[in-house]
Amino acid sequence: MDQEFGGTGPRLRATNPDMGQHLQAIYDTRVAEGLLRPDPAQRAVLLLLEDLRESLEDRPVQPPKGLLGRFFKPTIPEGVRGLYLWGGVGRGKSMLMDLFYAHTGIAEKRRVHFHAFMQEIQSALHEARKTGVEDALKPVAEGVAKNLRLLCFDEMQITDITDAMIVGRLFEMLFQEGVVIVATSNRPPDDLYKDGLNRQLFLPFIKQLNETLDVHEIASITDYRQDRLTGAQTYFSPANAKARVAIDEIWKDLTGGKSEKLVLEVKGREVPLPNYWAGMARADFWELCGQPLGPADYLALVGAVKLLVLENVPRLDSSKFNEAKRFVTLVDSLYEARTHVIISAEETPERLYLEGSGSFEFERTASRLREMQSADWATE
Ligand SMILES: Nc1ncnc2c1ncn2[C@@H]1O[C@H](COP(=O)(O)OP(=O)(O)OP(=O)(O)O)[C@@H](O)[C@H]1O
Ligand SMILES: [Mg+2]
Repeated sequence: MDQEFGGTGPRLRATNPDMGQHLQAIYDTRVAEGLLRPDPAQRAVLLLLEDLRESLEDRPVQPPKGLLGRFFKPTIPEGVRGLYLWGGVGRGKSMLMDLFYAHTGIAEKRRVHFHAFMQEIQSALHEARKTGVEDALKPVAEGVAKNLRLLCFDEMQITDITDAMIVGRLFEMLFQEGVVIVATSNRPPDDLYKDGLNRQLFLPFIKQLNETLDVHEIASITDYRQDRLTGAQTYFSPANAKARVAIDEIWKDLTGGKSEKLVLEVKGREVPLPNYWAGMARADFWELCGQPLGPADYLALVGAVKLLVLENVPRLDSSKFNEAKRFVTLVDSLYEARTHVIISAEETPERLYLEGSGSFEFERTASRLREMQSADWATE
């Protein structure tokens, strides 16, 4: 027990030399190193996050030893409010949350993509219901809250009615269990699940979010994702080792080398994105266009990613008609959602699909691919 609770902070500090430093100081170091550009709106967020970090780390209650310790639940200093950080794309919300998360010296913390978390809840609920328990959400929420004091959600959005109907009670239970929530989103709470089915049933949750969390809009005017891509090559042909190395570099620059698996669920099907981070996905052509996927899947994809790296698009011909058709649908979805793309392909856009059914219509796809490479693509 000692190890799990009391010993955790110092142990983390020992392994990470930055641990315990003010977040602003870490940010300033990154600015000085040329890794980040200074931004007053981001600094304002850091002040809030630093307060939160200090409150979380400042845990006056020590775990009792022995038998009692088994029933001990780490407590959070009173009045610790979580944060709901929202704003336009590429403003640095995920980056700031990750900085905060990495440098908060407690072990009882978790960072998860909101959609992945809700999937986990749904399947835990499914299991709990099998046991015949009266209120299945209760043991599920308790399971999540066990040994947890900080829960960070990236990309909070609610599009699904089943999620919309349980998230209110789930959060209430988590709050009651003393879990502090930090979330990033592109929308303010008031716009969550906008135009969703039975939205009136969702309104109490919005009220609860507004009351329980500090809601802060990041006022930055810069889309740093766009900024990092401006001037960068975004279409590579041929798709050779050189292209791969160049894309590796861009990907690392954008994600900081982190990745997780995200599984989209579309009409009961699963579309896995094994290489995903903070709104960006990297996939091979065959993963997305070599499988029986259709418009609904690509729509779900562009709903979940703001940047797609698609590698190894081959030269397409009539023997690859289905793949070509899917590629056209994918590009249309990306185009309409104004998603950033980085592509490596065997050929230039115009030479990708010269013969086969629909090759004439492919001209439009090629033209869209060209437009998506322009410097101001996806600027708001
Ligand atoms: N001040 C900055 N200087 C340079 N690069 C930055 C800065 N802030 C963020 N970035 C980089 O810009 C990219 C986008 O940032 P991030 O993913 O945090 O944005 P976001 O607000 O979460 O966007 P979204 O709403 O799309 O999720 C990342 O690669 C991040 O490292
Ligand atoms: Mg983000």
